Amino acid sequence: MSAKPNPIDMAKYVSARRAVDYVQDGMRVGLGTGSTAAWMVRCLGEMIREDGLRITGVPTSTRTADLARQCGVPVATLEDAKWLDLTIDGADEFDADLNLIKGGGGALLQEKIVATASDMTVIITDPSKEVASLGAFPLPVEVIPFGWQTTKALIEESLIGQDVDGRAVTLRLASQLPFRTDEGNLILDLHLRRIGNPRQLSLLLNQIPGVVENGLFLDIADVVICGRQDGTVEVR
Ligand code: 5RP
Repeated sequence: MSAKPNPIDMAKYVSARRAVDYVQDGMRVGLGTGSTAAWMVRCLGEMIREDGLRITGVPTSTRTADLARQCGVPVATLEDAKWLDLTIDGADEFDADLNLIKGGGGALLQEKIVATASDMTVIITDPSKEVASLGAFPLPVEVIPFGWQTTKALIEESLIGQDVDGRAVTLRLASQLPFRTDEGNLILDLHLRRIGNPRQLSLLLNQIPGVVENGLFLDIADVVICGRQDGTVEVR
């Protein structure tokens, strides 16, 4: 393979390299977003060029779509593909039950739709992402711009009485402006430090008017691959 990582990216690369072993000729593959998923897209590009692999990729963000095209990975929309054989994506956190926090890159909505429309979801990570309880990474919540301050207040109110260790909610910024998702929405980051009951919280958040989706991915990952800087991988 010609796409080689610098030492800092080694854990991400080996995780991605192991994940593409799940890809078979003819598959429709969901392409995740983020720096780890980017290695997976590069690996797929090389397998297409060097081994003649034929796949259709369904990107979870415009960033990933652009990279896929650069790497020669054919892309289709989820509408065209309808259902996927496999999705490979990164995560911000994972626990022992393979539950995840995602959305650090702001693509959680498309990522959750694409993963849910897949027969299998493989998550590519490194040891820094493993936690005993989810929540140290701020939980991203995608909200529509209309009345977002009201939605934020409703989220803050709903957190009272929840089994969490922090309750701060912040609007995500990019270059000092509100970050916009591919769908034109905003991201609120929930600084909870520990989420005692992720299932209850996820249901609660998604009931609030203005909330589009939250970054808790529960019962979605089938496999988590954890790559290490020494080049070894652990498959859970
Ligand atoms: C994007 C995501 C990413 O998968 C997550 O943020 C991990 O990214 P990285 O591989 O760069 O650490 O959920 O919305």
